[in-house]
Amino acid sequence: MRKGFFITFEGNDGSGKTTQIRLLSEYLKEKGIEVVLTREPGGTPIGEQIRSILLDKANKDMHPVTEMILYAASRAQLVNTLIRPAIEEGKAVICDRFVDSSYAYQAMGRGLGLKAVRTVNSYAIGDCMPDITFFMDIDADTAMQRRNASGEEADRMESEKMEFHRSVYEGYKNLISLYPERIKPIDVQKSPEQVFESIKAYVDQLLNKLEG
Ligand code: TYD
Repeated sequence: MRKGFFITFEGNDGSGKTTQIRLLSEYLKEKGIEVVLTREPGGTPIGEQIRSILLDKANKDMHPVTEMILYAASRAQLVNTLIRPAIEEGKAVICDRFVDSSYAYQAMGRGLGLKAVRTVNSYAIGDCMPDITFFMDIDADTAMQRRNASGEEADRMESEKMEFHRSVYEGYKNLISLYPERIKPIDVQKSPEQVFESIKAYVDQLLNKLEG
């Protein structure tokens, strides 16, 4: 059986990942590919419980190291019980955020550094890395304005100072220069259909490579 593949979406809070994830999922299903959609933190019953702890605004005293380990714990459960098995069964896995979020938010935003975050996450993910990661490229201030316009209440992470969100954005920019083969920045200041055209072009390339 052909092995599946793994695509992740990244970006600041409010960067508009959801619509593109839906469009990509529909596109792959139309091609007869079985799609598994999931998200981080969460995606499994245990992971969703960890998510509630992480995003609960009451937990404002959470230490950055505790936070890093909880994100990695949710990820370990997701990789081992859902992502890896699905890829082995030939499915396409699309995940809303993955380890790059920990690099941007915990290593950069919280200042824990890449080395610590990489080490902790190596236990969670092993060699399970995405084939492509789409970075929804919109600066932190614009993204936050969009998020606030949605009217939804801000969670613990979203309630952080703008300075934090700006360093997360810088963290993503750093990651793109470290992993240019895997992480594709996508300009999201266009219509959703135009944005999806750029995503589709990369996915078609990946599908050709896997079939070839
Ligand atoms: P979520 O509501 O899923 O955010 P979004 O809709 O923007 O994806 O909340 C996830 C939050 O957790 C978001 O603020 C990013 C943060 N996060 C980390 O700090 N580290 C991580 O490893 C992950 C996966 C998410």
